[in-house]
Amino acid sequence: MSAGDVRVFPTLEDASRGLAEEVASALRRAVEQRGRMAIALSGGSTPRRLYQILAREHSGLPWPRTHVFWGDERWVPRDSADSNYRMARETLLDAVPIPPENVHAVPTHMDRPEDAAASYEGELAGLFGDGPPRFDVMLLGMGEDGHTASLFPHSPALAARDRWVVAAEARAEPVQRITMTLPVTNNARAVHLLVAGATKREPLRCVLVSPEDPERCPAALVHPSDGSLTWWLDEEAAVGLEEATTG
Ligand code: 6PG
Repeated sequence: MSAGDVRVFPTLEDASRGLAEEVASALRRAVEQRGRMAIALSGGSTPRRLYQILAREHSGLPWPRTHVFWGDERWVPRDSADSNYRMARETLLDAVPIPPENVHAVPTHMDRPEDAAASYEGELAGLFGDGPPRFDVMLLGMGEDGHTASLFPHSPALAARDRWVVAAEARAEPVQRITMTLPVTNNARAVHLLVAGATKREPLRCVLVSPEDPERCPAALVHPSDGSLTWWLDEEAAVGLEEATTG
């Protein structure tokens, strides 16, 4: 199975700029063809610059026709410094004209993560109908253990086939997470993984060079069945991947 298109850039800034152009094109294309765009954002720290570039250099896009979801979220209040929602709001959403009703945050105010996961599946069904949601763009990152979204190595969430969102547990704080599942990532029209830094070299080798046990590095399990898969790497992360990169 193809590892997808692997693109290497001198710096994270360069990779973020390239990916911002791609997301902007996808946004225009989706609105032209289907009247709206649905994107799932990734969390963590790597995409901050990508979101800032989208906000500052692509503000003329049809943002009012865009729906934003999160591929995963930490089980924290929306104003927590650990919140993926808060990071996206600060870097992108407060700066572009997306209608509030189109910003679909994970309901981390609910009593139980399992209830929030079920509620978020309902939110997805509201836009996509029944069956696995099909995002125009799914942005993902990858952790030092090869996880993506909150799909952690050898975790129960990897086996989900008829759930689109589940509760999950991380090995680092915040432990409790909510995550979209592989049926969702692998149903997207386009999946983009933005990965940078020397600490991601080993998991990238696990995913791109020697995925003997893909559950050891779950990003290796992301393969859209009818969509594109593109890796956006900086040179720091791509060291040792010569045989897997397109240069
Ligand atoms: C999260 C993310 C997670 C992230 C990786 C990489 O909630 O943390 O969704 O999957 O993409 O852990 O995180 P960094 O970009 O901070 O290295």
